[in-house]
Amino acid sequence: MTVAPVYKQGWTMDDVHWSLFDPTKVEPTLLAAVKAAALVEYNAPDYVIYLKRVFAAAGPQTLASLEQWGREEAQHGRALGRWAEMADPKFRLEEALTRFRGGYTPEHFTETGESSVRGSRRGEMIARCVVESGTSSYYSAIRDATEEPVLKEIAGRIAADEYRHYKLFYDTLPELSFWKKLWIAVGRVRESDDDELAYSYYCANVLPEEEAANPYNRKKYSKLASQASMSVYHRHHIQKLVQMVIKAMGANPHGWMANMAGAFLWRRLAAKSA
Ligand SMILES: [Fe+2]
Ligand SMILES: [Fe+2]
Repeated sequence: MTVAPVYKQGWTMDDVHWSLFDPTKVEPTLLAAVKAAALVEYNAPDYVIYLKRVFAAAGPQTLASLEQWGREEAQHGRALGRWAEMADPKFRLEEALTRFRGGYTPEHFTETGESSVRGSRRGEMIARCVVESGTSSYYSAIRDATEEPVLKEIAGRIAADEYRHYKLFYDTLPELSFWKKLWIAVGRVRESDDDELAYSYYCANVLPEEEAANPYNRKKYSKLASQASMSVYHRHHIQKLVQMVIKAMGANPHGWMANMAGAFLWRRLAAKSA
């Protein structure tokens, strides 16, 4: 049995063992999913501006943590994007990002003032915990699914970062009733159905010169994006995701609720990508 390496915070692009890249181990569905993920991650600096606005009153230490968080998310995008460019020379991260940004602007990026779209700083913390639970599980699933050594390393490094991000936001979680937290969390899960995943998948996987023949269709690309993501997941990754969210709600991550929610989410995701 091999022991998984421990990846510490603060790694750089130079720490990745790029020379181990093995093109024969690249799997096309996973490549498509990685390209889309690269765009979403690389777009994070915009989100830092938004979070800093929401947390303007929280003090310099929180703002510094948010800056660091944004740098790490952008690096996730760069690392995944560089890997995708090695795996598919036709893919160009910067160009795909420009198209993605041109067509996708979530509501909260254009809002001004300190009000969060989720109503409050407290809500924002819970929403962040949900997102980081999702990314932590997703990159763990990619790490476990791929046989390509460089992607395995990058996904392992990112999964470790995402778990630290979850803890960063978890430690700031407010005192709220379980039901209030659940309400916010469910809202965030529903939000992830939005254009971001479908459109990032489209911009990442349809070349500009192919756009006319393959116009954007949200339903079609949402399904393709779900199918690509689901190809890496096993039931235990989804259970881990649910446990992290349930813990953030203040409930028992190993109790009946976590088991039921895990089974429900697994069925729902399977149905969505069927
Ligand atoms: Fe990330
Ligand atoms: Fe993260």
